[in-house]
Amino acid sequence: MSGTVVILLGAPGAGKGTQAVRLAEELALPHVSTGDLFRENLSRGTELGQKAKGYMSRGKLVPDELVIDMLFDRVGQSDCARGYLLDGFPRTTGQADTLGVRLSDEFGVIVIEIAVDDSTIVERITGRLSCKDGHVHHRTFSPPRAEGVCDMCGSELYQREDDTEVVVTKRLAEYDAQTAPLVAYYEEQGVLCTVDGRQAPDEVFEACKGCLGAEA
Ligand code: AP5
Ligand code: MG
Repeated sequence: MSGTVVILLGAPGAGKGTQAVRLAEELALPHVSTGDLFRENLSRGTELGQKAKGYMSRGKLVPDELVIDMLFDRVGQSDCARGYLLDGFPRTTGQADTLGVRLSDEFGVIVIEIAVDDSTIVERITGRLSCKDGHVHHRTFSPPRAEGVCDMCGSELYQREDDTEVVVTKRLAEYDAQTAPLVAYYEEQGVLCTVDGRQAPDEVFEACKGCLGAEA
């Protein structure tokens, strides 16, 4: 085996991005978020970004063929040779099957499911402040020290276009229909570790580290 791939599974707003930033530092592995990759494409005005935008703003999943090529292009880069941390991928069984074939026996896989109830999610998403580098704050739960500025990198904070109650309801429906089946999928493979995402971020982080300790 040449490395470890950690997959963070969880509904929109469960805290994948929050924990991914910390875990990536802890493990010294790159944090790869497909949502952030699409937003980067969008801000650079690429054709892929334009195609993804229509799905994202409606709370729909972007079709597998667009996601998979983009993701494999990213994890094929040299900084991912020892492994990486996936945030928001896979989200369908098609994506999971394709990833499984690519990883084969080369990488050990650990899947951490961050479990949170729907009402907590709406509160988290509608109060979220994001920056262009993929860091997140929350107006109430983790306000930035200076208004409108990311504590972690100094970039400007903004509210994502899809972070409204109407769109999050659609994102949750997509999660239930297309992504939630991956919990059983990875449980059957014996690589799933579930943590209670309703706790404070520090406690969720400790629980995530426990998953790494148990499987690594
Ligand atoms: P993506 O950007 O991945 O969005 P998402 O899955 O909806 O997840 P979020 O980023 O909204 O939530 P998160 O779990 O990262 O939570 P966070 O840590 O920020 O995807 C966007 C879109 O791109 C998708 O809808 C889809 O269209 C497309 N897409 C992406 N990947 C795809 C794929 N593989 N296939 C197809 N389409 C794809 O936390 C949320 C808030 O809560 C923050 O404000 C944070 O500060 C706060 N918070 C976090 N943890 C806690 C805590 N423990 N206590 C209190 N507050 C907390
Ligand atoms: Mg995120």
